[in-house]
Amino acid sequence: MELTRKLSDAFNEQIKAEMWSSNLYLSMAVYFMDAGLDGCAHWMKKQAAEELEHVHRLIDYSVKRGGKPVVSPIDAVPAVWDSPQAVFEHVYKHECHVSALIDQLMDVAVAENDKATQEFLRWFVSEQVEEEESARDILDKFNVFGVHALYAINHDLGKR
Ligand code: FEO
Repeated sequence: MELTRKLSDAFNEQIKAEMWSSNLYLSMAVYFMDAGLDGCAHWMKKQAAEELEHVHRLIDYSVKRGGKPVVSPIDAVPAVWDSPQAVFEHVYKHECHVSALIDQLMDVAVAENDKATQEFLRWFVSEQVEEEESARDILDKFNVFGVHALYAINHDLGKR
């Protein structure tokens, strides 16, 4: 059974969202490079690469199932934040948003009665739990230690 048109289009929306996420994290990497926080920049570059992997995963699956993946233009991403903590607050908020998008995509797969796609999307559902948790862990350090946490966070994130 091929992907329905509705599901193929929904995949394309997610592909766009994941590409936007990759650019967002790359922009955050630039912000941290400018600020001399190379550990944070390294973490963001890895994050950007991971988002591109998600793009490829979605495209490969869509092709395999007879969908019509489209590589669309993507909107500009922010480039300025008030502070390093504000960047990670944005990461957390953004990942919660992506989790909601994945849930919506799963809803379409359920509505289209496509069990193979539901199985495929379970990986993304679990991945989002990890993504939210890693952002929240970093934020927790800021919340407990304030700006004093930055040195240690930068050091830790450089080891990713
Ligand atoms: Fe691909 Fe961070 O969600």
